[in-house]
Amino acid sequence: MGLRNKHLLGIAELTVKEINQILDTAQSFKQVATRPIKKVPTLRGKTVINLFFEASTRTRASFELAEKRLSADTLNFAVSTSSVTKGESLVDTAKNLESMSPSIIVIRHGSSGAPHILADICKASVVNAGDGMHEHPTQALLDAFTVRTRKGSIAGLKVAIIGDLAHSRVARSGALIFSKLGANVIACGPPTLIPPDFARLGAAVSYHIDEAVSNADVVMMLRVQRERQQEAFFPSQREYFDLYGLTRARMRLAKPDAIVMHPGPMNRGVEIASEVADGPDSVILEQVSNGIAVRMSVLYLVAAAHASEDISQ
Ligand code: CP
Repeated sequence: MGLRNKHLLGIAELTVKEINQILDTAQSFKQVATRPIKKVPTLRGKTVINLFFEASTRTRASFELAEKRLSADTLNFAVSTSSVTKGESLVDTAKNLESMSPSIIVIRHGSSGAPHILADICKASVVNAGDGMHEHPTQALLDAFTVRTRKGSIAGLKVAIIGDLAHSRVARSGALIFSKLGANVIACGPPTLIPPDFARLGAAVSYHIDEAVSNADVVMMLRVQRERQQEAFFPSQREYFDLYGLTRARMRLAKPDAIVMHPGPMNRGVEIASEVADGPDSVILEQVSNGIAVRMSVLYLVAAAHASEDISQ
């Protein structure tokens, strides 16, 4: 059994079986981090290009470490010092990099659908590291892995996803993965920040944080994405925090063993209080460390799907 597709473009394209295979494989890779030499030869001789057109701390570092732990040769493409600054198009950049024979291209781009364009023109496997306001599949996979590790299973859990849903690729991928895995997903935020089609991702919608947090097993807060907001969606950050910020008092409404998640970067005092972000229920840094094992799993499985596609041709 393996992935049906050599690319990972979104959670929407994955079956439950494929999601579970990625999570199970990540479980095996997680123990590599406990060894004195944190390296396996799985991708020796393969080249991976990290093509980040948007800023990133966690995802970029996590992919790079995952690639190194799999013994791949990695190239970090620096957009700011590349010919992109001279006006080279995404397609031309991709075709030129493709002619250097990479096995995998990891791409983050501000435009939704950019990884799909690459997948259409490249022989290499393409992994979406976040595209515009569309999807961030490896974030959703590491979130699911973290919940599964903490809770044992995901089916039947109440997962509240709270914040700026309109601009969040994490929210889209998160709603899709948790509903596919059988959780009861409730999406919550101001009416101006919940897109009308959100319910189609398998989530119930609430405009009241207390309702969303009540009896939740998992409370996932989202960053207010000021850089993607062209207009004011709420009067002030202070009012946003009063109405939608996660505080210790609000966490008391959740189940006693509920966990707090955030994909990062956080706006402390806007969507989450510092005492909650750093408190005993927070698994925010655990999400980051799990990201490496999950990305090792994704890279390994897309490479395997690529190899079996080559054999069958
Ligand atoms: N969660 C996430 O995508 O963080 P970065 O933007 O730092 O990669």
